[in-house]
Amino acid sequence: MIREKPVVSDIAELYRHNGQTVTLRGWVYHLRSSGKVRFLVLRDGTGLAQAVLVKGNLPEEDFQEFERLTLESSVALTGLVKAEPRAPGGYELEATGLTPIHIAQDYPISPKEHGVAFLMDRRHLWLRSPRQQAILRVRDEVCRACRDFFHDRGFVLVDTPILTPTACEGTTSLFETDYLDRGKAYLSQSGQLYLEAAAMALGRVYCFGPTFRAEKSKTRRHLTEFWMVEAEAAFYTLEDVMELAESLVRTVVLRVLEHQEARLHLLERDIAPLAAVAEPFPRLSYAQALEHLKEHGKEMAWGDDLGGDEETVISQLFPRPVLVHRYPQEAKAFYMEPDPEDPRLALCVDMLAPEGYGEIVGGSQRIADLDTLLARIREHHLPEEPLEWYLDLRRYGSVPHGGFGMGIERLVAWICGLHHVRETIPFPRLLDRIYP
Ligand code: 4AD
Ligand code: MG
Repeated sequence: MIREKPVVSDIAELYRHNGQTVTLRGWVYHLRSSGKVRFLVLRDGTGLAQAVLVKGNLPEEDFQEFERLTLESSVALTGLVKAEPRAPGGYELEATGLTPIHIAQDYPISPKEHGVAFLMDRRHLWLRSPRQQAILRVRDEVCRACRDFFHDRGFVLVDTPILTPTACEGTTSLFETDYLDRGKAYLSQSGQLYLEAAAMALGRVYCFGPTFRAEKSKTRRHLTEFWMVEAEAAFYTLEDVMELAESLVRTVVLRVLEHQEARLHLLERDIAPLAAVAEPFPRLSYAQALEHLKEHGKEMAWGDDLGGDEETVISQLFPRPVLVHRYPQEAKAFYMEPDPEDPRLALCVDMLAPEGYGEIVGGSQRIADLDTLLARIREHHLPEEPLEWYLDLRRYGSVPHGGFGMGIERLVAWICGLHHVRETIPFPRLLDRIYP
């Protein structure tokens, strides 16, 4: 007898097939027996669906196969789709066929509580859990929203190199490698310097890629490999940079709320602090930030950068992200334009996410004048020769320009309400971890 092969469906698409027979393929999420009825909850990455196996409704040998199944075994399941409001996803399968693909060994991760180290060692399996899937889908939405944001505003994607001859963000966090027989190279700490060159060619540009910092700090905000989206535009002032960064964060967060609210619910994320991005973000000068810190018992010397603790305090004072601008030059990177009103200050901005999350964006207007830039490079003891090309940008039609970088993991951690950035990237690289 020739039987027509049932259509293969994603679980998320079951609603399209109500009353039809379909095949689902995936992994066993839950098993239960009750008298002559067997229940199998299947996951396929798009959702969860329950199948009901009733003796007699499917070939006896298929029915017997159920007894061999273990958690995370892979199977193909065929059955009739029925609307069932009580079932996860709203649809259920009346099974007419069950084919195991692979019977899993004893799966090490159970719904009971495991320690983070145990789970991180099994990160390759932990990714299968509903929470981790939800986080990765939010991350995917965030990345696409960033790309769309820049595309919609006429920014051109420019891929900047990962192997570089110099530091961008200070020499203490450089990953060093041998570059064939040409000496040392460093993994990129930021695409910014190259983006500045591209901005002089294309006007408005952005890059989006992996970024490396040999951070000696073991904090909930630091990875050694993270993803940064960076924008750079010719003729942008600090004011333009702040507006663009604010607009990016607002657009991305609102888009996640629009498209991924169900994932945020699964993560038990309170939506209210995210929805608050719709209103303008408060702006504070560095000097005002110091006053706030003093009021809250965190006195700081003028000239120091805000550390994690200080950022936490400031970011708890406001219900939405805050822009802290005009830090002292000495606290920041070499390329920042001095404030003409007070040259001790840099025309720079950090955006701090609320609820104690701290810095998610760092940016500035860049030094446009050749001599000022040269002086800075020398003060920072940076080698001039590998930066000659960067100096050229100040020799041939230099213009005011600026941009910023946003850390994807820090933004995702805040959006998902996670304590630590390690769960926001599929395979985190940390001070003490490079496995799996
Ligand atoms: O403030 P940063 O160091 O700025 C730059 O690299 C500039 N060159 C960007 C630019 O203007 N084009 O880094 C920018 C952002 C931070 O605000 C933070 O969100 C993230 O990158 N970030 C990290 N995220 C995770 N782990 C780390 N070790 C990070 N270091 C920075
Ligand atoms: Mg910074």
